[in-house]
Amino acid sequence: MGYAMNAILFDRPVWFATGPSILEEEAHEMEDFIYHRPVLAQEIIELLTPRPGSLVLDATCGGGGHTEAILKSGADVLALDQDPDAIAFAREQLAHVGGRVTLRQANFRHADKVLDELGIAKIGGAVVDLGVSSRQLENAERGFSIMRNGPLDMRMDPWHQTTTAADIVNSYTDEQLTQLFRDLGEEPAARRIANLIVKTRKESPFRETLTLARAIEKVVGRHGRRHPATQVFQALRMEVNDELGALQEGLRALTSRLEPGARIAVISFHSLEDRIVKNFFRDRSREWIDKPEWPEPKRNPDYDLNLITSKPVEPGEDELRANPRSRSAKLRVAEKLA
Ligand SMILES: C[S@@+](CC[C@H](N)C(=O)[O-])C[C@H]1O[C@@H](n2cnc3c(N)ncnc32)[C@H](O)[C@@H]1O
Repeated sequence: MGYAMNAILFDRPVWFATGPSILEEEAHEMEDFIYHRPVLAQEIIELLTPRPGSLVLDATCGGGGHTEAILKSGADVLALDQDPDAIAFAREQLAHVGGRVTLRQANFRHADKVLDELGIAKIGGAVVDLGVSSRQLENAERGFSIMRNGPLDMRMDPWHQTTTAADIVNSYTDEQLTQLFRDLGEEPAARRIANLIVKTRKESPFRETLTLARAIEKVVGRHGRRHPATQVFQALRMEVNDELGALQEGLRALTSRLEPGARIAVISFHSLEDRIVKNFFRDRSREWIDKPEWPEPKRNPDYDLNLITSKPVEPGEDELRANPRSRSAKLRVAEKLA
C-alpha cells in the first residue's frame, strides 16, 4: 500500500532519504530502484493530518520528498535544511509549486529565529526526518562516504560550521575518541580503534575518508556485509553536526510553535535519537508528575502534548522490501493540546 501511494505522490524523482545506520554497499546495489523514495511518507501524511491551507514546517527538507507529499495533501510548507546544497536542489525541484513553499537554509534548532524573521507566530504541523540524505552520502567531496575517497569533512552546513571530522579525529584524546565511538557509534572495538588512530596520527594526521576507513578495517577485520568503519563514521558525523543537541533544541522550538491541535512527526534512525524523541514526548504529555520525596503529585508545568503514537511506527513489509534503507526508521507523533 505504501508503495502504491508513493508511486502516485512522487511522480518526479526526489532524493532518497536515509538514516545513519545504512549499509552503503546495499544502497548502491539498490540505488536505481529506490533513489527517489522518502521514508514512511504515507504514514507521515496519515498521522500528521495536515489541514489544507495550513502551514507545515518540514525541518529536514533534503530532496523535498516529504515536502512534496505535504504539498499534495493541500497544506503549504516552510522547508528548512542546514545543508545549502539541499536547499538549492529543492528550490529547483519544487519551482513549479510557486509561493506554496518557502525554503530556508537553517538548522532546525534555530526554527524560532526563522519563524520570527518570516513573521510567523504558529505552524500547523512539523516534520523532522533525521540523519543524512543519500545525496550527501554519495557525494565524496562531503566526506560522509566510506566507499568513495574525499576529505574527512562531514559538515552538513559548511557555511557556518568550522569543525570537521578530520579536526576531531586528529585532536580528540584517546579517551574522548573511545567514548565517542562507544556512545554514538555503539562500536564494540571503540578502544582499539581509538588507540590505532592516536598512534597513526603521530606519523601522519588523517585527512581522507578512505585512509581512515581502511585503518579501521585493519583493526576490526571484515565481518558480514557492513563496512567495519560504518559505526565510527556514524559517530563522527553525529559529533561534527551535534545531531543530538540539535534534536533536543529543535524539539523544544518546534513544539512551542505548534498551534493547538497541530502535530509534530519525527523519524529517527538511531536508538539515542529515538530515546530523546520518546522521552521528550512522554515528559510533555504527562499531566501530573510524582516523586517519592513529594507528599503528593504536582501538575506538570511542561504538559502541552498528547501522544498520538504510544509505540514507534516502523516501515511495513512493502516499504522494507522496496527500500531496505528504511529498516531502522522509527516514527513518533505527538499533538499540541487544544
Ligand atoms: C534523511 S534527510 C531528509 C530527506 C527528506 N525528508 C526527503 O524526503 O528528501 C535528512 C536531511 O536533514 C538535514 N538535517 C540534518 N540535521 C539537520 C538540522 N539540525 N537542521 C536542519 N537540517 C538538518 C540534512 O542536511 C539532510 O538533508
